Parts: sequence; C-alpha cells; structure tokens
Amino acid sequence: MCGIVGFTGSQQAAPILLDGLKKLEYRGYDSAGIAALCDSGIHMEKASGKIKNLDAKIDGGKALEGNCGIGHTRWATHGAPTDENAHPHLSNGGDFALVHNGIIENYAALREELIAKGVTFKSETDTEVVVQLLEQYYDGDLKAAVLKTVGRLEGAYALGILCAHEPGRVIAARQAAPLIVGVGVGENYFGSDVTAMVAHTKNFIYLEDGEIADLTPDKVTIYTDLGEEVEKPITRITWDVAAAEKGGYDHFMLKEIMEQPNAIKSTIEPRIQNGEIVLDDFHLTDEDLKQINKIMITACGSAFYAGSVGKYVIERLCRIPVEADLASELRYRDPLVDEHTLLVVVSQSGETADTIAAMKECKARGARILAIVNVVGSTIARLADDVIYTWAGPEIAVATTKGYTTQVAVMDMLAVYLARRLGRLDDAEYARLVDEIQQFPSLVQRAIDLNPNIQGLAKKYYNHNNIFFIGRNLDYAACMEGSLKLKEISYLHSEAYAAGELKHGTIALIEEDRPVIALACYEALFDKMMSNIKEVKARGAQVLAVVLEGNRQIFAEADDVIFIPKTEPMFNSLPEIIPLQLFAYYVARENGCDIDKPKNLAKSVTVE
Ligand code: F6R
Repeated sequence: MCGIVGFTGSQQAAPILLDGLKKLEYRGYDSAGIAALCDSGIHMEKASGKIKNLDAKIDGGKALEGNCGIGHTRWATHGAPTDENAHPHLSNGGDFALVHNGIIENYAALREELIAKGVTFKSETDTEVVVQLLEQYYDGDLKAAVLKTVGRLEGAYALGILCAHEPGRVIAARQAAPLIVGVGVGENYFGSDVTAMVAHTKNFIYLEDGEIADLTPDKVTIYTDLGEEVEKPITRITWDVAAAEKGGYDHFMLKEIMEQPNAIKSTIEPRIQNGEIVLDDFHLTDEDLKQINKIMITACGSAFYAGSVGKYVIERLCRIPVEADLASELRYRDPLVDEHTLLVVVSQSGETADTIAAMKECKARGARILAIVNVVGSTIARLADDVIYTWAGPEIAVATTKGYTTQVAVMDMLAVYLARRLGRLDDAEYARLVDEIQQFPSLVQRAIDLNPNIQGLAKKYYNHNNIFFIGRNLDYAACMEGSLKLKEISYLHSEAYAAGELKHGTIALIEEDRPVIALACYEALFDKMMSNIKEVKARGAQVLAVVLEGNRQIFAEADDVIFIPKTEPMFNSLPEIIPLQLFAYYVARENGCDIDKPKNLAKSVTVE
C-alpha cells in the first residue's frame, strides 16, 4: 500500500506533489510527507494523520521551495504512524531523501551492517536502510549508487529518490509494487497510480519489476537493474481528471455506486455483438478448452466474493468443477493445479500481493491464467495469459462498489460464453441469457431507483452492534459482500452465514432485536429461506428482508423489506448487492464514519 509521487520540471514541485498525494490517499492515510530540492538543498515536511495535516503545514505546498521532489502517503507496516516514521526519510548526511512503498524483507540485516559503519537511524521503518545505503554508495554517480542499492534489497519496493547533488533529477525504481511514469512536456512525473498524474498528462510508461526510471524535466530514461537502457512504449489513457473527482457527490463511494449502470454498460456492451458474446481478449482455442477439466477462481476480499458468484454460475452452466479460493490461502496450500486447470484471477487494482503470489504459484504448475482486472497495465494484467478488463473507470473509494459489480457482470458473461463454447447451451437458451446480460445496466439502475428509502432503514438500524446476513446459494454469495461492505465502512460487527448453517451454532447469537438481513431472492429456495426467517423471528430478531419485486409473502414475517428487480435467477447477485451497498453507505453516514477512507484500510493491498 502507501502511495508515492515524484516530479521534476520548471514549476514549484510541492503543490503538484501534494495534489498527487491527495489522489493517492486511498492507498494509505496514516501520515504524509514531501521533500523538495532547491538551491540550499533538500527541504522536507511530514505530518502524521491525513494529508490535510501536511497541506496545512506547508500552506498547500507553497512553503516548500524547489522544482523537483518526491512525496508519500503512508499505510504503516514497520513502525507506528508517527512523524518520525513518516516518509520521506533522509540519509545521515542529508544528501538523499527517499520514499518507499512495499516491504524490505532483509532490512534488519542491512540495518545492523549500517549501524556497524556508524550510521544512526531515526525511524523504526524498514525503509530507512535504503536511503542510508544510497548515501554510502554515492560517489558522484547517482545511477551507480541506485544500482548498487537496489542490488542489496530483498522484498517489494517502489522507490522515489531525490539527491541533493543532482538538481532537476528524480529516480524511481520498481520491484513488485506498482510504479508508473507520467511523461509531460518540459516536466515529468512518477506515481503509484495514474490518478496522481492525470491532471498533468495522459501519457504513461508502465514500469516492470527490476526497472529504474531516471527523470529530468526533458528526458525519461528507463534502465534495468543491470544498468542497461530499455525502450518502453508510451500508453495514452482515455479517461480524464473528472473521472477521478467527486462530481457533486458527498463521497466517492456514493458517486461510484451511482456510476454502476454506466460502468457495467462499458464492460459488457462492446463484448456483445449481434447477439453473440465476443471475448476478443480471451484467446482460448477449442483445443485448449477441451484440455480444461477444472476451473479455479482466486482473489481477495470483495473480488473473492465476485469469484464466489462466478463459482455458482460457471459450475451451473458449464458443468465443470469450479473452486473459489482465497488467494492468501491458495498460495500456501500446495494446490492441485496443472495444465488442465483454468485459473481465473479477479482483482480491481491488479496489484494485490496475495493474488499475484497465488497466480504465480498456479502458473508455475502449468495453469492457464485468465485475469479479470480493472486497472490497465497492472501487474496481474501483465502476468496473465489472457485479460478481460472491467471498464469501471478509476475507483477511488477504498470500499469497492463498481469494481465488484463489473467483476460480477464479467463472471456472468464468462459463464454463458464458456457454456456456449462447451456446447451446454442451445440457441434459444443462449439468446435468452445474452439478452438478460444486455439488460444489466438498466437492471442495476432499477435496483437503485426501487429503493429510495434505504437512508430511512439505515436510520433505524445504524445503532446496533451486531448485524447478521443470511442467504442461500447465490444469495449467500451476495450476503458475504453485503456484510463486508457494512463492516469495513461503518465499523459495525457483521457476519454473513449460509442460512442453512444457522442452526449449527450461530443461532445461539440471535436474541431480542438482533438485526438479521435475510436475502431471499433465489425463488427456488424461497420457502427454505422463509423457514430460516421464522426461526430467527421466533428468537426475537428484527428481519430486514431483500426479495424480488412483487413478492407479497414476505410481509408475513419481515419487519422491513427491500425489493430488487427481477432477472434470470442466476444473475440475481448483481441487483441484490445495490441496496446492500447503499445500506452500508447510509449506516456509515449515520455513524459519522470517514466513508471513503475507512480506518486501518487501504485500497491497493500490495503487501502480504
Ligand atoms: C472491499 C475491498 C477489498 C478488495 C480486496 C482485493 O471493499 O475493496 O476487499 O476487494 O482488497 O482488491 P483487488 O480487487 O484490488 O485485488
């Protein structure tokens, strides 16, 4: 996690760096800092807490002179979120300032080695060893010092380097952490994410692991960790700065919830041509497909819950065994994966460390890798054999919404696509399912419009400490995501249970007034859900039920009801998550939480 930025040009660096950090704050918000270089050397300011504290300290950047510099927003790993541990870190002699995203695994040994040479450390971070090494190795040749330094490092890093003796020059180095160079006119940038730079340029160079970028105002040079220069393509992005701004909404999360019909439209519309699903970016031949006897889906957090939806839908339509496994578990469980396995990797950011590790593990065992990713050019997109992008646009709120629903839309589309290619769907059924998929944008819009009173329900339920979600089958997959949304942004304790499991233990926790959110949209199991609802009602629970539009039976048992529009039952997960996202949003609002930046979290989890 953590976000880093760098700038060199003729303008004052600090306001540009500060603005970039604000765009990256979703990556971490424990502390922030900026170092800039001017005639009198490196000047630096840091502040614990959110970026607004740093902003106030440096008067929007105006108080820090210099035309080149580096900045950082931190999600603490080594050392508490204090001013001392905030980045940038300075070398003992003040010759170098450095920012870092990632973890230096061999920092303890390096620290001892440096202490033995008389170096003193001011922070508890793993990062500080890097800046001290740079100063030790620097003898007037910056490139040589950087190469020697990165040669000593084990672990993951995106580094930003500023040297007091090299005016107008900033260096960035990447190993297993995202880092992108922004190419401008008379000025150049680097950052953890394009959103930090898109106000200034639309031209980007995506660095690979082991690459180092040497930036001056007029030149970008990329070289490998052996010092050899490499030619890199420049990618031009198509979205602009407005896509990464709130556009009149109080929070990015609400804006992103409302953007879902369009995000889903952008994801599916170009892939349905004349009634056929066309996945140009999935190059599986019929011969390849015949070889596949198992599909594994792996991801973390909400992306895993989108994968859980995929498990139900793909297995049902394709009649191939499908497993969904958390990436953090899969990577260490010696999985039964081989060249007959199709591994579907799901990730909004494309940078999640556990997901990347699970993917590499399965790739080494011969699996074919299909990635469903939102961020173009991200690590997962580049490592995969095939990529289906979810065209959700930039997602800024830490809690995912449009990232998740576009993943679910792709899962549904992929299931129908594979089933057709496997000969499991006749013409009529295929046409019907494709038509349902084409309705997804309006389906999701209707799920938003059908529920104007979610805020009222949030006012009723927000002051409870424990809320349970129950459901069966695909409703259960949606329960897991609904529960995660609620807990991560409102800090209420909430759990999702497969409704049939309640009686095996959890029902002991049901007591007078305990809210239970019961998802009963899957009509084939509606009667079973009604029985579960009765069981919790009999023990005093207040039930907020989510059911299909037109269902009247539910009023006999539920205290409150949310309706979702009808679609093919296998695709219910899409409309039913919408009211749950809104419920989580309004509960968090009632509780006065920092909705876009929940405590302890970061958007892109690039550490294990
Ligand atoms: C929850 C959330 C996280 C992510 C998870 C995976 O709202 O956003 O659970 O889904 O960290 O992230 P990606 O999709 O970037 O791999």
